[in-house]
Amino acid sequence: MTELQIFPFIDKRIEDYCQKNVSKEPEVLEKLNRKTHLKFVHPNMISGNWQGTFLRMISKMINPKSILEIGTFSGYSTICLAEGLQEGGIIHTIEKEEEYEDFLLDNFKKLSDKKIKLHIGKALDIIPTIEVEFDLIFIDADKASYPSYYNLCIEKLCKSGIIIADNILWYGKVGLDPIPNDKQTTAINEFNELITQDPRVENVIIPIRDGLMMGRKL
Ligand SMILES: C[S@@+](CC[C@H](N)C(=O)[O-])C[C@H]1O[C@@H](n2cnc3c(N)ncnc32)[C@H](O)[C@@H]1O
Repeated sequence: MTELQIFPFIDKRIEDYCQKNVSKEPEVLEKLNRKTHLKFVHPNMISGNWQGTFLRMISKMINPKSILEIGTFSGYSTICLAEGLQEGGIIHTIEKEEEYEDFLLDNFKKLSDKKIKLHIGKALDIIPTIEVEFDLIFIDADKASYPSYYNLCIEKLCKSGIIIADNILWYGKVGLDPIPNDKQTTAINEFNELITQDPRVENVIIPIRDGLMMGRKL
C-alpha cells in the first residue's frame, strides 16, 4: 500500500529505496492499512509499514511488560507495538476521538491476540490516571502537547525504559532558521530540546519518515 510521500522533505529516491527495502507488511496490517484508507478522512496519519516495522522490532527487542501509546488513530502502531509484549503484558493506548472506539475495539479483537486497553479521552487527562510504570512509551498525538506529554511520561518510564516520539522533524520545519513560530513547530522544537538536555535520558533522532526521537532512561 502506498504510504504518505514525505518528499520533497526527504530525497524521493532515498525514501523510495527505504520503502522498497523493508520487510513485507504482515497480512493483518495490510488489511488494517486498507480499511484505514477506506474509512478515515486523514488516512495518512497511519504509521505504515516502514515505521511500523521499526516500532515492532524495537518492541520485540525490549519485550516489554507494559507499553503506553498516545494517539491510537486506527490502531496500526498499537498492533505493531503490541507484538513485542511479553506474556501477560499490556499496552495502554489513548485516543481522544470517541467515534473511533467501535472500529478500534472490533479490529483489536480480530487482528491481535495481545492485551490492548483502549482509553478514550484526552491524553493529558488520562495519563495521570494510569498507575503503571512503562517499559516502552510511544508519543504520536497532538503536537502542541509534546512538552507536556514528555514531562508526564518520563516520570512513568522505568529505568532503562524507551520513549519514542513521532514527527519530531515536523516536515523539516524545526530545521529552519528562524524556526516558524506556530504552536506545533514551537512545541516540537521545545520537546526536542527538553529531551536532549535531560540528564536522566540518552537520546537520538532516527530520520524515518517525519523523524522519530528515541530516548532511553538512564
Ligand atoms: C498521527 S495519529 C496516530 C497514528 C497512530 N499512532 C499510527 O501510527 O497509526 C494521532 C492521533 O492522536 C489523536 N489525538 C489528537 N489529540 C489527542 C489528545 N489530546 N489525546 C488523545 N489523542 C489525541 C488523534 O485523534 C489521532 O487519531
